[in-house]
Amino acid sequence: MIFNVLTVFRELYMSPLKYGIVSKAIKTKKIKINLYSYGDFLKEKERIDDSQYGGDSGMVITYDKASRAIDKIKKNNPETTIVFLSPKGKLLNNKLAIELSKKRNITLVSGRYEGFDQRLIDNYADLELSIGDYILSGGDISALAVIDSVSRMIDGVVGKRESVIKETFQNSLLKNSVYTRPISFKKNRVPKVLSSGNHKKINEFNRSSSLNLTLNRREDLLEKANINIQERDELKKIKVKNNNSNIYLALVHYPIQNKKGEIIKTSLTNLDIQDIARSCKTYGIKKYYITHPVKEQRKLAESVINYWEDSEINRTENTKHDAIKLIEVTKSIKDAIRSIRLIHNKKPKIVATDARIMHNMVNYPELKEIIELEDSPFLILFGTGWGLTKEVLQNADYILKPVGGYDNYNHLSVRSAVAIILDRLFGCKF
Ligand SMILES: C[S@@+](CC[C@H](N)C(=O)[O-])C[C@H]1O[C@@H](n2cnc3c(N)ncnc32)[C@H](O)[C@@H]1O
Repeated sequence: MIFNVLTVFRELYMSPLKYGIVSKAIKTKKIKINLYSYGDFLKEKERIDDSQYGGDSGMVITYDKASRAIDKIKKNNPETTIVFLSPKGKLLNNKLAIELSKKRNITLVSGRYEGFDQRLIDNYADLELSIGDYILSGGDISALAVIDSVSRMIDGVVGKRESVIKETFQNSLLKNSVYTRPISFKKNRVPKVLSSGNHKKINEFNRSSSLNLTLNRREDLLEKANINIQERDELKKIKVKNNNSNIYLALVHYPIQNKKGEIIKTSLTNLDIQDIARSCKTYGIKKYYITHPVKEQRKLAESVINYWEDSEINRTENTKHDAIKLIEVTKSIKDAIRSIRLIHNKKPKIVATDARIMHNMVNYPELKEIIELEDSPFLILFGTGWGLTKEVLQNADYILKPVGGYDNYNHLSVRSAVAIILDRLFGCKF
């Protein structure tokens, strides 16, 4: 594999390429690195950078002068894949490193200052590549990261193929913890199984360590990981065991807005009783409050609940029962809050939901983080009719962004919205 590198500072590469696996790969001719400097293509008194159009500060790598260098590299390497290093590019990961390792010739174009004149990228780039969501002052560390991670994937570069196969991110899992001599130090012993000589047990232990680490630190990776049904069940059990969910949900029938913005009471919808209860049970919600100020409506809710609790079906098949058990019928939001306070000795944080987009709404990753970090219980309010009133929204601690498609039509039934929102916040992705 040939790597051509175009840079402002060629000298930066000297030391990193002199050590370790990359240096060995150069010596054994698995890879070859050609360093090109923009400076070599400049005439006297010319600079590679120039000021920006539009008035912003910061210099930009020029189109005309940099293209002299790229044209020359292309002439010497007609088959080359041109990669611009840029924080705006596709994120480098192990999978992409493997793909790139199949190329025979790659040109890494390293930027500086405010980056490249866009026309360079439009006309030359086969790929724009970023090594992470942060800004470096130049593309050279990124180019070295690409050379290192891609070279490791070339056959024969890393001594034992097995070490590459078992590495972190292969199969979208973090690698298991590793240990070496001494077996015991400062009262800390290497896990016994690893010195047992029983390879089946060792493999099982390492697999389990890898799965648990990934679950604890990078659950997002598990979505793409190849795990079997048994492993999936085990991981889900760990989540359920560790889940001391303090999340409550309330379906509000008063105070509610109508189409004109007037404050009204809505009537109970039979389907919302069962369906929302089932969603609550599925996503680990502790209690589902149905709030209604009208006695008859509360009675109606109770009678539906009692029907499902006492019904013949329920005696043979208790899935509905488990869900229905979560329901508590209250007069008002205040009563629901009071009930949670009695359980936790703490006022819950209120999260209101709405189908309209507004200022200062909290997004899903933010709310997930808040819920994880905060010690208090949370009560998520869902409105009926045309939604929760302004006052309820204003008094909430957070207003959650609406779910929906790209179209302006957004009239999900409340039970659909509940299911989608709970899945976004608490759904299992693996
Ligand atoms: C200071 S950065 C320019 C950043 C630019 N102002 C922006 O906000 O997108 C200068 C050069 O460093 C390199 N660079 C910086 N961060 C990078 C990253 N995360 N991945 C790859 N290259 C990066 C690129 O070559 C870039 O052109």
